Amino acid sequence: MPKTVSLSWFILFIFGSKLLMRILLIGGGGREHAMAWRISQSPLCETLYIAPGNAGTALCGNNIDLEVLDFEKVAEFVVENKLDMVVVGPEEPLVRGMCDFFAEAPGLQHIKFVGPSAAGAMLEGSKAFAKAFMERHDIPTAAYRSFTEEQLDEGLEYIRKIIPPYVLKADGLAAGKGVVISNSSEEAERTLTEMLQGKLFGEASKKVVVEEFLDGREMSVFVITDGVNYKMLPSAKDYKRVGEHDTGPNTGGMGTVSPVPFADDKLMERIEERIIRPTIKGLREEAIPYCGFIFFGLMIVNGNPNVIEYNVRLGDPEAEAILPRIQSDFLELLHNCSTGQLKSYQVETLPQTALTLMLCSGGYPGVYETGLEIKGLEKESGYKLFYAGVKKQNGKYVTAGGRVIGITVLAAGIEEARKIVYDTASKIDFKGMYYRRDIGKDLLK
Ligand code: AMP
Ligand code: GLY
Repeated sequence: MPKTVSLSWFILFIFGSKLLMRILLIGGGGREHAMAWRISQSPLCETLYIAPGNAGTALCGNNIDLEVLDFEKVAEFVVENKLDMVVVGPEEPLVRGMCDFFAEAPGLQHIKFVGPSAAGAMLEGSKAFAKAFMERHDIPTAAYRSFTEEQLDEGLEYIRKIIPPYVLKADGLAAGKGVVISNSSEEAERTLTEMLQGKLFGEASKKVVVEEFLDGREMSVFVITDGVNYKMLPSAKDYKRVGEHDTGPNTGGMGTVSPVPFADDKLMERIEERIIRPTIKGLREEAIPYCGFIFFGLMIVNGNPNVIEYNVRLGDPEAEAILPRIQSDFLELLHNCSTGQLKSYQVETLPQTALTLMLCSGGYPGVYETGLEIKGLEKESGYKLFYAGVKKQNGKYVTAGGRVIGITVLAAGIEEARKIVYDTASKIDFKGMYYRRDIGKDLLK
């Protein structure tokens, strides 16, 4: 048989059989635009739905107006549309048990699901749970105590005993805003009181973790795991504060660089040995089903990695920098994860640097305007735009959130990536547009 015929038979066999997938992606931010973009590029993708999606995901598949926390409705949609796989972007549906719902409801077991069980999602859903988990499995992290409202006096006493700065963390989900760091013990005591009384972060801070301040360099690593095996994904550094030189309030993230240049082989080995492997082993030992991503927020103190937080998803905007660096077929990777076949899977990564800059609404993370027309989106060449808070209205793209667009550039190094990113940023415009000008600057040699 001629080579071309055998090849076409092979392709027909592969893509004409079960491997062609119909997928529902949950979420609607820049991260989901990046995920949708990679999924839709895969030859294994037959149809991609995104709920609720945004104007960016609409360029990669079909947006569906579903209330994603109504699991019955989501399941109905999945069954009616004969979907094969559900992939969850954000943490909230996971913490609320979406994975468990799909595992337990009749007639849904054949659906492949990427996202951990509610028990696994507790790593992000409860800081106190995460700290106790790390303690049980000897995973390095800051020393801590956790307090409920009934233990307020003990909490105040603890603050008076420890040395500043004081790190106070709301136990539950607080949209990335639940951490307060304070230098004064009076302020920390006042904050602890307000947190425990529910005045600061509502229900999320009815329990508070007070922990030791770690002085070091921050970075994040990401893995995908099927609960038994895991694969490393590219590392990233996030720029969380709104202002240049890390000043002003925390945001969801103003930019990212991947890989982290100071994360050499020795440090990465330590991270795997001391943090990643014990985490995966701990999940397995505690019989916590986990199929999905783990995002390890780390503080490197004198070369030693400590966990400052777990997230049970990809980061945003980290995903916008990491996913373009994954050379392997992203959907195939998700499929291997959801079928417990990660062990033999090889994740290929591009050596280039990815730098993502978030263009934000003026006023973010406080009050900002929306519905403002965005200009300069037309031709993408040499960079990729990921839409975060973008909506299409009367044929025009308008702002619809605090973080509006992520510009990602892949280049030989940070300097070159910065040049292209900032050149691109100068061509995009909407009223009040704001971005940090120092993304990646601190990492230049
Ligand atoms: P999180 O919301 O957990 O990502 O925390 C927000 C930020 O607070 C982190 O990015 C760190 O910069 C900082 N942070 C959290 N925990 C600590 C800690 N124990 N020591 C020093 N900084 C911390
Ligand atoms: N950029 C940080 C996060 O996604 O939590």
